[in-house]
This record gives sequence, C-alpha cells and structure tokens, in this order.
Amino acid sequence: MFHFEQKTVFLTRFLAILGQFWVKMTFFKKSHMNKISAAITAVGAYVPDHVLTNAMLETMVDTNDEWITTRTGIKERRILKEDGKGTSFLAIHAAKDLIRKSNLDPKTIDLVIVATATPDMKAASTASYTATQIGATNAFSFDMDSACSGFLFGMSTASSFIASGRYKKVLLIGADKMSSIVNYKDRATCIIFGDGAGAALFEPNHEGLGIQDEYLRSDGSGRDFLQATYGGSSHAITHEVLDRGGHYAFQEGKTVFKNAVFNMADATTKILERNQLTKDNIQWLAAHQANKRIIDATAQRMGLESEKVMINIDRYGNTTSATLPLLLNDYEAQLKKGDTVIFAAFGGGFSWGSIYLKWAYTTNEN
Ligand code: UT7
Repeated sequence: MFHFEQKTVFLTRFLAILGQFWVKMTFFKKSHMNKISAAITAVGAYVPDHVLTNAMLETMVDTNDEWITTRTGIKERRILKEDGKGTSFLAIHAAKDLIRKSNLDPKTIDLVIVATATPDMKAASTASYTATQIGATNAFSFDMDSACSGFLFGMSTASSFIASGRYKKVLLIGADKMSSIVNYKDRATCIIFGDGAGAALFEPNHEGLGIQDEYLRSDGSGRDFLQATYGGSSHAITHEVLDRGGHYAFQEGKTVFKNAVFNMADATTKILERNQLTKDNIQWLAAHQANKRIIDATAQRMGLESEKVMINIDRYGNTTSATLPLLLNDYEAQLKKGDTVIFAAFGGGFSWGSIYLKWAYTTNEN
C-alpha cells in the first residue's frame, strides 16, 4: 500500500507527464498544420493538330505498324508543322488552356518554369517569352532541361519554391517540339517521338496534400547512348555534320531501354518502401511515356493493376518533357482529392527518379 506522500508524488508525476504529452501533441498538430506542401491545383495541355500515324511512317522509313505497336505501344503522334513556331508555341497554348480552365489571373503567377530539351533558341529562354505571352507580367521565369526527366525534376524545383514560403503560384510547363531534332530517315528514333506540352500550377497546401517525397538521380556516363551531339557548345554544326544528319538526336535504344526499366523500377520501389506504401494505397502511376513495355515493367514491379496505370503513349508517342503533364490533363476528371499518385521518369543524361504526390482536388467540385 502507498503512503499518502507516495501517492501525491505519483499523482504529480503522472499529471506532469500527461501535461508534457498534451503540449507535445498540440505542438505536433500545429506544426503539421503549418507545414507547407506544394500541391498541383490546376492542369492544362496542348498538342498540335497534325497526326503522324504508323501507316504514314511506313511510307517514310523501313518499318511497319505491327512492329511499332508491339515494340512501343505507339499508334500515332502529333507534329507541329508550321515554320517559325517552336516549343514556346506549344507551351503558351498549354498554359492558356490551364488559365482558361481554372480562371487563373496570369498576373498572380510568381514563377514560370519551362522544362524542355528543345528550347526555341540557344539563348533567350523559352520560359521568358512564354510568360510574357500568357500575361504573367509579375513573374520571373527560366528554362530547365533534363530531357525526359525534365518535368519530374521541375516538380521538385516548383515544390521547393513553394515550400520556401516566398512564392504562392508556380506554373510548371513541360513542352517539347521533338520533331525539330528528329531525323525522319532514322527508324530508331522517328517512330518514337512526338510534339506536345502540358502545364501544372503548384500552390501551397496546408492539409498535407501535394508532394510528399522524391527520389531523383542522374548519371552522366549515360549520355553516350542518348544525345543530340552537334549544335551545342562542344561540337559546332558544320556543312559536313548537316550533310550526314549529325545535328539530329541519336539513341542506342537497347541500352536506354535496359537502364530505363531498371532505374524506374528501382526509384519507385525506394519511394514505396520508405513511405510504407503498398499497391493497395496507390491509386495511380504516372510514368514517362517512352515505351509501353517500360511502363508495364515498372507497374509490374510495383504490383499495380493495369487500371491504375495512366497511359496515352498510343496517341502522343514520347513527347519528352510533356509526357507527365499530358497524362495529368488526360486523367484529370478521374483523379480524386487525396488520391496517391506515383510519378516515375527516365531520360537522357541519364536522369531518372520518382515522386510521391497526394492529389489535391476533385474536378467536379471546382
Ligand atoms: O524517353 C527517353 C528514354 N528513351 C527510352 O526509354 C527508349 C528506350 N528504348 C526503346 O524504347 C526501344 O529500345 C526501341 C523502341 C527504341 C527499340 O526497340 P527494341 O525492342 O530495343 O529493338 P532493337 O533496337 O533491339 O531492334 C530489334 C529488331 C532489329 O532487327 P534484328 O537485328 O533483330 O533483325 C532492328 O533492326 O528490330 C529492328 N528494328 C525495327 N524494325 C522495324 C529497329 N527499329 C525498327 C523499326 N521498325 N522502327
């Protein structure tokens, strides 16, 4: 039996511990509520009207619809035909689509980022021109390039600007006019790529929605296998280079394929493991659309059912920086507030990674 004094000491200690627990919980709740995460609050997209089908490619290079369909999953892609119109044309249209759909006042945009491997020009950023053309007159802007991982890395960049607390609206656009660097005599590349653009608006979220985690990597030893060698600062375009089509993109498909399969599966697995996610609490996989077989391999490794895998490679091919936002735009109506979306990409550089995001809105509520 306790004596009276012992009982008082015990009770005082118990109350002190309870008090500490209460203070900690209140602090945790508050800090959790105040934590800023970057959420996607609107999307938009644009693809040019001209459709380049597999049947058309059969008349241009030694290929056939059956080979392209079974090896890549692509049926057609879009091409921006008009002379003098570059990546900014695609980016501006995608951004305007987002602005129209979400009633956004472009003057409230703080930052415009254009992820692209095919800027309008070598100097004078595509983003700067795009921002001005869409009326984002109070924004600063810049381009970023990490080939097919450009939009994924851009999500990380946009998220960091939002998390800093200094920027409220960051417009990230993924846009590429791949037809400007593709050799339509080279069947190893011309069957894959297409032109397009997609845009996503990032805003602060205090409900714990938006970007949760990221795993991003690069390995420069991979650049030998996928590059547009000439016309940069290391190798000038000469008459001889032009004559043999050396200014176009080159890809050693098999090596890129193997690295893409391994690294996209590895990155998504890491994201799943460290966030204790299983296939049951993932609603969507948004994977770079380079080859349907790579997407399937990634989904299989995650144990995901095909209904959860976003796909539009059949209609657009590989649009490099634009694949992820084009997917978001196509699937926007099916996405629900709170849905877990796993992003994955692999591209030239090499560059790759995965992002875990909680979707922040349901379309029919807006
Ligand atoms: O987005 C950036 C990252 N890029 C990627 O992730 C792309 C990764 N790579 C790929 O998607 C695939 O490697 C390709 C689609 C580019 C090529 O598919 P593959 O299954 O790796 O084909 P392959 O290059 O191993 O060629 C297989 C066969 C060869 O014939 P033989 O030697 O077996 O007789 C090729 O000559 O297919 C032939 N071939 C074609 N046949 C018809 C190659 N390209 C074509 C073609 N049409 N377009």
